Amino acid sequence: MKIIIANWKSNKNESQALDWLEVVGPKIKKKPDLEISVAPQLFLLGLLNQEIRNKGYHFCLTAQDIGPFDQGPYTGEVAAETLPSLVKYVLIGHSERKKIFGETNHLANLKIKQCLEYQLTPIVCLAGLEEIDEIIKSIKKEDLKKMVFMYEPPAAISKPIGPIGVGEAEPIIKVLEMISKIKKISPKSKIFYGGSVKSNNVKIYLQESEIDGIVVGSASLNPQEFLKIIANASQI
Ligand code: PGA
Repeated sequence: MKIIIANWKSNKNESQALDWLEVVGPKIKKKPDLEISVAPQLFLLGLLNQEIRNKGYHFCLTAQDIGPFDQGPYTGEVAAETLPSLVKYVLIGHSERKKIFGETNHLANLKIKQCLEYQLTPIVCLAGLEEIDEIIKSIKKEDLKKMVFMYEPPAAISKPIGPIGVGEAEPIIKVLEMISKIKKISPKSKIFYGGSVKSNNVKIYLQESEIDGIVVGSASLNPQEFLKIIANASQI
């Protein structure tokens, strides 16, 4: 099965999110080989979950982040424990969190452990391999295979220019090289790629058997472009 995650980042208010869902939702057919997930801003998860259930849309939801601890006195954090009824996946340690908000590999490690405790699937973002030891420190082998790794070279992330963003995706050969290195560390994990995936290059990535999914940022904001991405992915 291939998985496509729409990472909306800090975009869309309630009505913009519902407008997007109204365009994309009815067009997503249930398919055993393709899963679509939307990662909205956290405050939208409840609303979108309700809408998806009411309308019977074939999406699941992804959290863009979670807090590193159980419920407690942590202002501004969202505890993993409160999310399993809403989301399937959680993005962990996105490079924007690291670069702009100073998030560390140690925090990513704590967040992965929270996901594992509450049966959420962490999508662990990796800019390179140097950081992986610290990120997966003391995580058991049998837990590693429940995790997804996303190779996301920061330089490949689109700039938010124009209707679908502008950027240079990492060449497939380099993505495959990195994947083979990740597989040596964690052979059974699913592996995603993220960075300037658009409708015109989605097939290049998803057609590779080593790539289980993609994370689409800027291009996912535009419902027509996102539908084209799904249509092209469906041809594989
Ligand atoms: P992009 O973002 O598709 O806009 O490059 C990918 C990501 O950062 O999740």
